[in-house]
Amino acid sequence: MTDSRTNLRSSSLPTKVKIVEVGPRDGLQNEKQPIDAATKIELIDRLTDAGLSYIEAGAFVNPKWVPQMAGSEEVFQGVKRKQGVTYAALAPNMKGFERALEVNASEVAIFAAASESFSQKNINCSIAESLERFEPIMAAAKEKGLPVRGYVSCVVGCPYEGEVAPEKVREVSTALYNMGCYEVSLGDTIGVGTPAKIQQVVAACAQDVPLEKLAVHLHDTYGQAIANIYAALQMGVSVVDSSVAGLGGCPYAKGASGNVATEDVVYLLDGLGIEHGTDLQKLIDAGNFIVGKLNRTNGSKVAQATTAAC
Ligand code: HMG
Ligand code: MG
Repeated sequence: MTDSRTNLRSSSLPTKVKIVEVGPRDGLQNEKQPIDAATKIELIDRLTDAGLSYIEAGAFVNPKWVPQMAGSEEVFQGVKRKQGVTYAALAPNMKGFERALEVNASEVAIFAAASESFSQKNINCSIAESLERFEPIMAAAKEKGLPVRGYVSCVVGCPYEGEVAPEKVREVSTALYNMGCYEVSLGDTIGVGTPAKIQQVVAACAQDVPLEKLAVHLHDTYGQAIANIYAALQMGVSVVDSSVAGLGGCPYAKGASGNVATEDVVYLLDGLGIEHGTDLQKLIDAGNFIVGKLNRTNGSKVAQATTAAC
């Protein structure tokens, strides 16, 4: 049996996918137990060694809001940087941007939402205010030559408002793209999307933002993330965010579980014959390393199956 690309020629699957590894940031931000900088650094070094070319290594947010990300400076300073690998950080405002700059982050990500209530809970301002707050970051980043990635949260549903209209997601994505984000990542923060909904939202955003500038960031709360990624790939999306061992969640989205596991994404891409540049076994080892430190089970089905078979 083969499920290689040759059987899928009628679809417009990409030949290559960029994986944006968000485990060290999205994966760990929600952890209640203390995780020391040395553990985070070892995780990032292992992910680098597994061949990932883009790692979101931390967040320069208010440490009172997200205590787990408080030590991001130490993490950025301790990581063994590999040439060609992007080590990115979240920056919600100029203070965050300056902190990121100080430790030589390769780039920053700003984050908005398609839901007003989520925006208030997550970053303490309205969507319009957040976009205004990002303008000076964009200007400073341009001056320093630092690329900026944009996130839109709650692209399908909001933990406070319920269903979110694709048109609203389009509006915010377009605003981020037009202000200079080189890529916009569409976040199904609470993992309620199904393939048809993901395709609708991608189609809506692609009216203004070129498809190759769109990424998907799918939490796996309802177990739909792999199906949703496949639906996005079929539309030609070629950037996928994921988190090693399926770690993750958002402290301001109660009940939101981890991101789709990077190992599971890699297995899917391998099955489709899509290039991704990572070593699955090293990824599994990195995932097992961090879940061992956190004393929890590995959220990747592929890691579970592979580890059980050994
Ligand atoms: P605020 O309290 O409104 O900020 O927070 P403020 O400007 O009024 O400042 C209050 C205090 O915070 C001041 O200190 C500032 O200096 C300090 P004080 O004078 O009281 O001593 N402060 C900071 N300190 C360090 N670094 C900073 C910073 N900014 C202010 N950058 C703020 C507004 C946006 C900062 C806050 O709401 C915040 O940090 N929110 C971040 C929440 C967060 O990190 N959420 C998780 C990430 S988003 C996510 O997970 C979704 C995503 O994965 C996609 C998806 O899944 O959908 C990306
Ligand atoms: Mg997320």
